[in-house]
Amino acid sequence: MAHIVGGLATSHIPSIGGAIAKGLQQDPYWKPFFDGFPPIREWLGKTKPDVAVVFYNDHGLNFFLDKMPTFAVGAAAHYNNADEGWGIPTLPPFKGAPDLSWHIINHLVEKEFDVVTCQEMLVDHAFTLPLKLFWPDDVCPVLTVPVCINTVQFPLPSAKRCYKLGQAVGDAIRSWDSDLNVVVLGTGGLSHQLDGERAGHINKAFDLEFLESLKHNPEWATQFSIHELVEKVGTQGIELLNWLAMRGALGQTVSTVHQNYHIPISNTATGVLALQVA
Ligand code: DHB
Ligand code: FE
Repeated sequence: MAHIVGGLATSHIPSIGGAIAKGLQQDPYWKPFFDGFPPIREWLGKTKPDVAVVFYNDHGLNFFLDKMPTFAVGAAAHYNNADEGWGIPTLPPFKGAPDLSWHIINHLVEKEFDVVTCQEMLVDHAFTLPLKLFWPDDVCPVLTVPVCINTVQFPLPSAKRCYKLGQAVGDAIRSWDSDLNVVVLGTGGLSHQLDGERAGHINKAFDLEFLESLKHNPEWATQFSIHELVEKVGTQGIELLNWLAMRGALGQTVSTVHQNYHIPISNTATGVLALQVA
């Protein structure tokens, strides 16, 4: 059976892609953010996952406000990146893992998660940048399965539901008849709000409590409603639902490989976390 080696989470701000393209990793503005990644790459070099299952949110590239699935799973052989209008370089296609995608989809539908299946799916910065940060190679070396959660247009799925989705995806991976190693990603966050009266809203105390909870008390954030969470972390900070789904997939006991927290990049509080399944 397939094995989950651990989970990774990172913010996915588009300007990170610009900084990578310009080689600004050592620039004083960027260094505190990029310094969070080498210890995680070292761990990935040792654990060598074959596949990445990525919980992320699309920002209007593949799904727009006219058609907004709550949960959508990619089942394609390749996922193309495209111009999202941020001016960041378009990355080469990412390889899919259709066998695992269909195994996950079948399991989720059996467990009463009525997901949208996507045999074609464009992937935006929330999918491409985290993969580039963890695997800076020209072509991403791991196979991928995108799992898209609507964090954009209300009504959003509850934190509890996203955690349960993660648990079900974890069960699916562990029951996949394969000897491949899988790592689970969650992208977005941490606290940020890009527009409106509270533009620039950041909540460091909540972010740090959330990070701690993922290590020792993963269900902690499920006590909050979506409106409570948006109040705490901002309208885009709610992307932390992707982190929660990732954590749900890992099972009860994990150990911390590395973490980093830095404010701000753009108007956003950035977090990076790597957890190893015990
Ligand atoms: C920013 C953050 C995001 O999560 C995103 O999707 C787009 C932009 C930002 O902070 O600039
Ligand atoms: Fe985002």
